[in-house]
Amino acid sequence: MRIVVLTGAGISAESGVPTFRDADGLWEGHHIEDVATPEAYLRQPTAVQRFYDARRAALAGVEPNPAHTALARLEDAIGDDLFLVTQNIDDLHERGGSRRVHHMHGELLKALCSNCGCRTEWTGDLVDFPPCPRCGLPELRPDVVWFGEVPYGMDVILAELEQAELFVSIGTSGAVYPAAGFVQVARRNGAATLELNLEPSEGSIFFRQARQGRAGDLVPAWVDEVLAGLIA
Ligand code: APR
Repeated sequence: MRIVVLTGAGISAESGVPTFRDADGLWEGHHIEDVATPEAYLRQPTAVQRFYDARRAALAGVEPNPAHTALARLEDAIGDDLFLVTQNIDDLHERGGSRRVHHMHGELLKALCSNCGCRTEWTGDLVDFPPCPRCGLPELRPDVVWFGEVPYGMDVILAELEQAELFVSIGTSGAVYPAAGFVQVARRNGAATLELNLEPSEGSIFFRQARQGRAGDLVPAWVDEVLAGLIA
């Protein structure tokens, strides 16, 4: 069975990574539009770099949780029949053991050169605008997809959704497109659909089945079900 899994901030919440749409509507005390848009970066590049430098540094203090490791277990069992696409910019899927992760919104641990377009592994800060390792210009920014920018690899994602027999959405509010529309693409192509989220998301009605609870409980239980089906 070909399975596409989409994850969002909710899968990393139990690891201690704050979600975007908290009760106060702020992301780590900031309005999203002040830190996650190209306009914000043009207006206040240093403040935006500082914000992402802090998020990158915070990765050292968090660990993958049972939801991440369960998805790695699923990949171990079914290999390429799993396509894992995440909106998350943390590296918790990889540290949980997943080997193939499609980061549609980019990665904190990469920098993108605004001048030459190269993408570089990056673990340090960017606030001092270090030179790009390829073109030498001080144009490195976080390699994250901001509002108004095109997510990475949409062609690959849509091709996977068209072939999926099961689409599972985990820990995402369904508030941000295009990811929020994946369920409808999968349905149109005949896939079964399942949502695993703390609460019904904005797109819950599009899923054939929705389960509510913590990702750390729901995801390992669902993976066990899939694997039991494979063995039976
Ligand atoms: N287990 C399962 N779900 C959870 C948990 C948990 N422990 N904690 C929170 N959730 C759910 C919330 O109920 C919410 O529906 O996770 C969802 C998180 O929603 P958002 O904060 O909106 O995050 P996400 O959907 O990933 O945001 C999408 O928006 O700001 C942009 O680019 C950013 O990738 C991000 C995109």
